[in-house]
Amino acid sequence: MKKVRRCILLVCLLPVIVFPIRLPAQQAITGKTPSLKEVFKDDFVIGTALNRTQIEERDPLAAAFIPRQFSAFTPENDMKAVMIHPQWGTYNFSEADKIIAYSQKHHMRINGHTLIWHSQLPVFVRRMQDKDSLHRFFVEHISTIASRYKGKVYSWDVVNEALNEDGTMRNSIFREKLGEDYVVEAFKLAQQAAPGTMLYYNDYNIERPEKRAGAITLVKKIQAAGVRIDGIGIQGHWHIDQVPLKDIEQSILEFSSLGVKVMFTELDISVLPDPIGSNGADISQNTAYNAALNPYVNGLPDSLQSKLAGSYEDLFRLFLKYKNKISRITFWGVNDGNSWLNNWPVRGRTNYPLLFDRHFNPKPAFYKVIATKTRNTDRTASH
Ligand code: G3I
Repeated sequence: MKKVRRCILLVCLLPVIVFPIRLPAQQAITGKTPSLKEVFKDDFVIGTALNRTQIEERDPLAAAFIPRQFSAFTPENDMKAVMIHPQWGTYNFSEADKIIAYSQKHHMRINGHTLIWHSQLPVFVRRMQDKDSLHRFFVEHISTIASRYKGKVYSWDVVNEALNEDGTMRNSIFREKLGEDYVVEAFKLAQQAAPGTMLYYNDYNIERPEKRAGAITLVKKIQAAGVRIDGIGIQGHWHIDQVPLKDIEQSILEFSSLGVKVMFTELDISVLPDPIGSNGADISQNTAYNAALNPYVNGLPDSLQSKLAGSYEDLFRLFLKYKNKISRITFWGVNDGNSWLNNWPVRGRTNYPLLFDRHFNPKPAFYKVIATKTRNTDRTASH
């Protein structure tokens, strides 16, 4: 008899045993968990980076979760040159058109990413030797894409990561063949192709004084040429041991004094050992895997969870202090499992850089962020 009872109990408990990690995610969708976009709706837009699987809504849980938390998004990869313009004159608009359809279905604002970047260029561009060919590509690429999505894309990262760490111009193929004024021309072409679209410069580490100065020079150059630039994106790829709050505050002040909106466009905070000490996002840098660099495969210790929560709390307190200068905060990924930081600068690690865990459960960092607005110190939802 005892055995029978035990079996019945096990069968009854089985669903809870198998699905406990999913329950809070349901809460995140059914409304028990606060919505980031709602909580901060009077302060700034809250966005995320979306990958193709998410745009195609293949996971019903993610499909319900994303529009509830975010009111804007940046396609993580599918509008980059290598994806959208694989052969000269041949465009692959299928994925980008799905992105537009997704944004219209969920009434979410798209930040197009990115028209001109030295990375993720198609092979035919990387092999170009002469200036005239590259210039023809440059003009056609910007004009074709920006005009096609005019009125459908809210904004463009017109140029991404044009600066070196010391604030000088990165010696990309564009600078090398077209000269330093390629940035001004890119904005001019985008403005002509899509007059109503917001135009941004986007880069990492531009909160640091030297690189910040380079970005300011760039913005002033665009403005001096009578060309429109509406905002500057500080990517915000930081590391838990060095979130530069003072530099960030100074950058908000100095960038906004140029008359442009400030945005944090790719926010994440790595909690893993940083073997290259860059605290940036130079995708070309990487390091070989070793277990010592991947210490939290079985979960993040509470001490680090609360340290991460503290870092995000400090950041959102600062963002709220300058909410009139900041127009958007975009996280670079929906949950920890989506993050590029699981594979950079070391492939195959388990990182925890965002506000939601791999099962869409809100982490302590999420509740600390919400509490900066609701002023509650305890959790704001039963979890
Ligand atoms: O789509 C191919 C797939 O077909 C192939 O099987 C696979 C093999 O590895 O590669 C896939 O492409 C990858 C792509 O992400 C989509 O997953 C590329 O290799 C990989 O390099 C690419 O990484 C992206 C990286 O930019 C380079 O474009 C990351 O997801 C993305 O998070 C990262 O984002 C950049 C921003 O655009 C600019 N700021 C820095 C930020 C972090 O590097």
